[in-house]
Amino acid sequence: MSDQDWLVTNESECRLFTASDTSDWGQNPYRLHRFLTDLEDIIWQEKDDYLRLQQICPLVRRLLNSSEWILTNFLPPDPDTGWSVQVLYDESDFPLTVQTVVWSPKSVSQIHNHAAWGIVALIDGQEKNKFWQRSPTPEYPDRIVQTGEHTIATGDILCLMPEAIHQIEVIGDEPTISFNVYGVTDYAKRFQFDIVEQTAMIF
Ligand SMILES: [Fe+2]
Repeated sequence: MSDQDWLVTNESECRLFTASDTSDWGQNPYRLHRFLTDLEDIIWQEKDDYLRLQQICPLVRRLLNSSEWILTNFLPPDPDTGWSVQVLYDESDFPLTVQTVVWSPKSVSQIHNHAAWGIVALIDGQEKNKFWQRSPTPEYPDRIVQTGEHTIATGDILCLMPEAIHQIEVIGDEPTISFNVYGVTDYAKRFQFDIVEQTAMIF
């Protein structure tokens, strides 16, 4: 277990995030409904996505340490797409995404941003993340350039700012399983990027 927290900025720079303070977690089980209540309080009280991530990241770690049922609550990957999503909480008036996601070995995602703050906690496996940032030219306004890459392992948490652009690749022979939480998505700003054509399209 690696147990490191990482932040990917809006400029797609990946860096170690402030370590979680576990000193006052207490003995009581930290269940999903408590996590959701804390999440809602943070979102109401804190408007800055960076500060939200800083507060929510340790709660994700606490939840996964305390609520082991989440670690085994996932679906096998679809053989056609190579991935699966198990929604753990869904309410129309509370538009946050809370889910477990599985990617089969060798899978490679599209290059994309999320247009929402996001947290990916890796429950199992190894996931290489390549990062990109916009570098527009008059001819290619959606041109992007790679800023780096980082592989996360079991126990690591990757926090993404809304404009962070990444592409994931499953490393090794095992699937990756992750617990993902995303804020409210601005669908007008969520893109997939094509680095050959230097284009982007909303998805
Ligand atoms: Fe992503």
